[in-house]
Amino acid sequence: MIDFNDPKFVADPYQDLKALRQFGEPVWHEQMQIYLAACHKDANDVFRNKSLGRIFIDKTPDFEWETFNWLHSDSILDSEPPKHTRLRSLVAKAFNRNKIEGMRPAVERITTKLLDQIDSKVKSGETFDLIADYAEPLPVKIIADLLGFPESEEHLLRPWSQAIVKMYEVNPSAQYQMDAKKAAGEFAEYVRNLAALRKVNPGQDLITDLAMVEENGEKLNSHELVATCILLLNAGHEASVNAFGNGMVAALERPDQSALLRDKAREITETAVEEFMRFDAPLHLFERTATAQTQVGGVTIEAGQKIAALIGSANRDENIFNEADELDLMRDPNPHIGFGAGIHFCLGAPLARLEMGVSLPALWEKYPQMRLASQPVRRPTFVLRGYESVEISA
Ligand code: HEM
Repeated sequence: MIDFNDPKFVADPYQDLKALRQFGEPVWHEQMQIYLAACHKDANDVFRNKSLGRIFIDKTPDFEWETFNWLHSDSILDSEPPKHTRLRSLVAKAFNRNKIEGMRPAVERITTKLLDQIDSKVKSGETFDLIADYAEPLPVKIIADLLGFPESEEHLLRPWSQAIVKMYEVNPSAQYQMDAKKAAGEFAEYVRNLAALRKVNPGQDLITDLAMVEENGEKLNSHELVATCILLLNAGHEASVNAFGNGMVAALERPDQSALLRDKAREITETAVEEFMRFDAPLHLFERTATAQTQVGGVTIEAGQKIAALIGSANRDENIFNEADELDLMRDPNPHIGFGAGIHFCLGAPLARLEMGVSLPALWEKYPQMRLASQPVRRPTFVLRGYESVEISA
């Protein structure tokens, strides 16, 4: 059975995931004590099945993990109705398509500024790092701005977020666990103070809006306020960075697909962004727990048992996608499930699409001849799949 921590698997998981799909139904992973739904129809069912919930199980001993625990159990992502409905409705308006479209000028402004900074490197003959110089700062700045996180402190976000999300890997190491506890404590403290400041000195931002809801009534308690802000700050950039980085590397490694972007990036942006989401998924595994006996793909899941939707595998399912292992930036239709499905469907999908939709053609129009300057360096993780650095010469 798959060893999710095997460096060979992490380097290229797609052959092993294909073998898992050959079973044609969810498969039990004895060591992890979880079913794996690798086919598109089964992974999609896992997201939509009402007897399968996101049930966060507190880490113990509680006193060490207290903050980490409530940062999850009181967040939108790790709660179920009616709490999920209440929390999601408080922020849904800020992320609807019209509101997000209104952010286009800000996304364009930041993109232009980042390209100007990159240009000074390029003009002096240096390479640039697609991740640190471009893919990462755009979503970090946008989500920080939307929440009202101070610009001067933005550098804190990525390290806190990365320490926390390492806990989503299979069997995180002792070091990862220590880092996650520390980051959870510091991040929560920071956001709690920020919300208190906004109550006396309101801004035009989401932290202010949520702080006012907490102040005024029963819809949001103080843990839920902090947990929601931190979820948005983290979810608002982690996957976006990697979706862009993974897609760009895949394209740069394939001359025919690079040529498409070089010649008509703006024309094909929409389908290219969806293919970036499908081909080398930035998020691979999401778990659910059965709240009652249920069926997925003909397999019975007993109450209390767990099952994981394997998104990256589903997105390579040969029963759904022609030439599933080929990158096709003009693929249409493209029913990938990179943003999940059902009640937890990604709240930030319109924002992620806007960010990539602006930054992708802008980069190719500026540097049509760009290429990989060296072998890109992958992060050693499966669930959040991405690159550490991708050096580009323009
Ligand atoms: C390419 C980038 C992104 C990808 C691939 C992605 C993927 C996902 C997926 C798969 C889920 C569902 C998880 C589950 O059902 O267990 C999800 C949920 C969520 N995402 Fe995203 N996401 C991205 C960007 C964003 C952005 C920019 C935001 C902005 C705030 C965001 C906020 C959220 C939130 C709040 C949820 C929880 C929704 C709920 O539980 O109701 N995401 N995302």
